[in-house]
Amino acid sequence: MNSRFALALVLSLSIFTTRIAAAETVWLDDLKLASATQGWGEPQKNKSVGGGTLTIAGKQFTRGFGTHSESTLRLNLNGGAQEFSASVGVDDEVNKNPASSVKFIVLADGNALWRSGVMHAGNPAKDCKATLTGVKSLVLEVSDAGDGINYDHADWADAKFETDAGRPVTVTPEPQLAPVAPYILTPPAPATPRINGANVFGVRPGSPFLFTISATGERPMKFSAKNLPGGLKLDSKTGRITGALKTKGEFTVSLYAKNSLGTTDKKFRIVCGDQIALTPPMGWNSWNCFANSVSEDRVKRAADALVKSGLINHGWTYINVDAGWPNRRDSKDPASRGEFRDAKGNIVLNSKFPDMKGMADYIHSLGLKAGLYSSPGPWTCEDYTGSWKHEQQDAQTYAKWGFDYLKYDWCSYGNVASGVASNLMTVGSSGAPWKKDDEAIYPYRLMGNLLRDQNRDIVFSLCQYGMADVWKWGGLVHGNCWRTTGDIIDTWKSMSDIGFNQDKAASYSKPGNWNDPDMLVVGEVGWGKMHPSRLTPDEQYTHISLWCLLSAPLLIGCDMEKFDDFTLNLLSNDEVLALDQDALGKEATCVINNGNVRIYEKELEDGGRALGFFNLGMEPVKLEFNEFAKLGLAGKQHVRDLWRQTNLADVDTANGVLPLTVPGHGVVLYKLTMAK
Ligand code: GAL
Repeated sequence: MNSRFALALVLSLSIFTTRIAAAETVWLDDLKLASATQGWGEPQKNKSVGGGTLTIAGKQFTRGFGTHSESTLRLNLNGGAQEFSASVGVDDEVNKNPASSVKFIVLADGNALWRSGVMHAGNPAKDCKATLTGVKSLVLEVSDAGDGINYDHADWADAKFETDAGRPVTVTPEPQLAPVAPYILTPPAPATPRINGANVFGVRPGSPFLFTISATGERPMKFSAKNLPGGLKLDSKTGRITGALKTKGEFTVSLYAKNSLGTTDKKFRIVCGDQIALTPPMGWNSWNCFANSVSEDRVKRAADALVKSGLINHGWTYINVDAGWPNRRDSKDPASRGEFRDAKGNIVLNSKFPDMKGMADYIHSLGLKAGLYSSPGPWTCEDYTGSWKHEQQDAQTYAKWGFDYLKYDWCSYGNVASGVASNLMTVGSSGAPWKKDDEAIYPYRLMGNLLRDQNRDIVFSLCQYGMADVWKWGGLVHGNCWRTTGDIIDTWKSMSDIGFNQDKAASYSKPGNWNDPDMLVVGEVGWGKMHPSRLTPDEQYTHISLWCLLSAPLLIGCDMEKFDDFTLNLLSNDEVLALDQDALGKEATCVINNGNVRIYEKELEDGGRALGFFNLGMEPVKLEFNEFAKLGLAGKQHVRDLWRQTNLADVDTANGVLPLTVPGHGVVLYKLTMAK
């Protein structure tokens, strides 16, 4: 052997041994999965997103990454990965829910290397294999397949890399906005009396009437009214109007509030007719903070907090219990374990909610209204008792207990929908309806009619994530509001994807019929795992401005015992809330879309226009706005900055400009009114 040959042999042997030594299987679950962003829950190591064993169509896996659409996990491969493989699918924990559908995608340096196609609950796992030689960065994505994120529990089971050298690492996703400390824009309400809130209220003949005049200013305050129709009386200390109206009619009333510093008055319209919720419901719902750990005590404390915080003086009214009040199927918590219904079919209560009537009475005693939650299916989404086959009895029970609001969530109804006889399905509104739409409509029509039969006004809130274009028929089944999308969470992606995609339904919004882009995610939220909203202060101004422009139901989703000054300020700007509560009931649409800059316009009852200048980009944008004709504005206009509650210089739409700076992910919210 000559020496050159010997050297070559040694070298090649050593390369060979290095290769063998470095070839390695790296399991995805051994990397930092916390860098993933996802639409619901937290990234899970070796578990489904709901915390169970990873299971796809009955097959269990001990290793993998449990996530939820829309999910993105970014990795830097450090040059050595040769192959990625996994078994992917929807986790069985969603109980074959038809709303669940996802797409898995593997992106290598920006190009899709592997796609699963649409996968539904119950589909067997698909084998994913992608060759990675030369790839630098990898993205594992789960999309919602275009139908919203509900029930999209997605598993990357047995996910692993074969590497030659280097080790993949997960990387933190998008660049972050520079942190901005919460900043307060709105001055405190004056000590002199001011009557806030809606200036119209709808009630049905014979229904118990409860309306609390919301007024800010120093206490004590004395309330009075002129031209209150017979059957109603006003408590001068509390400002509560109660009683009942016998016949239909419209009444214009003058309301007065007086304290040691002065008196104020306001015209108020009472419309006794078929329609209720003439302005979008405003209040609180337990889900975004307490999730299943809600209890009667927590609900009563929320009602107390709504009063103590002063929010009651800005029109906030409903205290709504979401999922978690009846008994639960296979409950691990003794407090919600037990019979679901008694021998007569009545829903059985438990130690978490021992006295529904007492709770509703308590809420009413504060001048507030009470809301409840159920499903047309046998089980609610979290497996609590639903109303399937007990609809009439439940509607009567809710009325007997004294509830004023029902959120009715599709959940397990998907499993029984196709078993409903087709002759029950005809809606009769549009000739020969499509069978699938009928299935979507039927349970809501049923409950809508039953609620109408009760002797009290119960706001009917449809929760079925926008299926079958609910905005087109929600009003026909006596719905007052309906969700247009899947569930919101407290991220910019979730809030902005939902909020800036509402135009499709906008023309259906009107008094008594409201599109619902889901509840508010400001303050301490967390679905049982509390944390301050992850939205930046500017994103929160965007959220509230947009929801008010959209005439959305406003349901606070945070723990109201933990209000900070910023959140409270955000929720008590009466000029901003007045946009939401405007009696015309017109939903804003996007009238100018210049990429990152979106301008929303809402027509108001007094002839004014609200304008939201939104910036979807991360850098501040400076505008010299002069496209008034596109907004249908002419002449000289008064300009009011609604968050700051200050007047700016009038603008002449013929040749003037409106200079403004919109922060990244932020908003400037103005009201323009024709100058006389
Ligand atoms: C979802 C609904 C949420 C919440 C949750 C409770 O379907 O969209 O708002 O009610 O169910 O399980």
